[in-house]
Amino acid sequence: MSPFHVTRTLPEDATDAALRADVHRGLTGRPKTLPPKWFYDAHGSDLFEKITELPEYYPTRAEREILLARAGDIAAATRARTLVELGSGSSEKTRHLIDALTDLRTYVPVDVSGSALSQAGQALAAERPGLDVHALIADFTGELTLPDTQGPRLVAFLGGTIGNLLPAERAAFLASVRALLAPGDALLLGTDLVKDEEVLVRAYDDGAGVTAAFNKNVLTVINRELGADFDPAAFDHVALWDAGHEWIEMRLRSRTAQTVKVPALGLAVDFAAGEEMRTEVSAKFRQEGVRTELSAAGLELAHWWTDDAGRFALSLSVAR
Ligand code: SAH
Ligand code: AVI
Repeated sequence: MSPFHVTRTLPEDATDAALRADVHRGLTGRPKTLPPKWFYDAHGSDLFEKITELPEYYPTRAEREILLARAGDIAAATRARTLVELGSGSSEKTRHLIDALTDLRTYVPVDVSGSALSQAGQALAAERPGLDVHALIADFTGELTLPDTQGPRLVAFLGGTIGNLLPAERAAFLASVRALLAPGDALLLGTDLVKDEEVLVRAYDDGAGVTAAFNKNVLTVINRELGADFDPAAFDHVALWDAGHEWIEMRLRSRTAQTVKVPALGLAVDFAAGEEMRTEVSAKFRQEGVRTELSAAGLELAHWWTDDAGRFALSLSVAR
């Protein structure tokens, strides 16, 4: 078994303070919003894994197809000794990359979900003798302190999770990723692409109701962590395509007029019947937009690969 370490870069009470601040801001704002990073407790992480297996949810399969076809090209272009993966979750697809990176010494999965990290990290350390797995429980939108390991460094951000950040958050995030890299190091970025509205909406409103349960899980997290009394059954799951922004928006719509108490914040929050609260955006991209955003952060697009059906792209960019 290889070495496996987990480091929590934020103390538990900092996570708690961040949740309180986000929920306070989100429930007192107009319209009400909640940031998507709070979906991912152990149950939310399991629900996300179920989403990746749904017939309607194509991004995971499309990205795996590209990784299987291109892992050798990525290895040849980067010769990475350290792979840092942001929002690594189960690290399931990453195995294809790890297998191809013949010079790899250290894998650093970074996630807010401690449960996903320890399951994935322990399995990988057992399966890949010789690979040092150094998991970090951290928020990738904050300042990241990475272990001091050998370059070249490859940062991977897969799954299209960059689309869950708003445009200004994306710009700040890409600049902070660039700061983790030395010139010549690389970023491997997964981006879901703009496509037919019907296909997109179905991917976020599946027939089995798994995405609805994932969306409502944020209410359960707030109930448990902040003593709130949200009734998940009193909200409907909504997924819609915003053509102006080119993003999917997930919302929770209050079925009735109701008041929700959040004792840890001293809040009583009124919802009107039919009022919608935004819980996630999932932006969809075009090649030129990705190139421009990368370039603004000091990253030069070097490769752009899509699956055969052209639904999803993996790009490899190099730090200038
Ligand atoms: N990369 C995996 C998982 C995607 S799900 C895949 O492609 O299938 C998104 C992952 O990002 C989850 O594991 C979630 O816990 C993590 N995540 C979401 N917001 C985060 C944040 N702000 N900081 C760190 N991890 C985050
Ligand atoms: C993690 N992220 C890329 C997913 C997405 O598609 O935006 C989260 C998700 N939300 C609903 N289904 C999946």
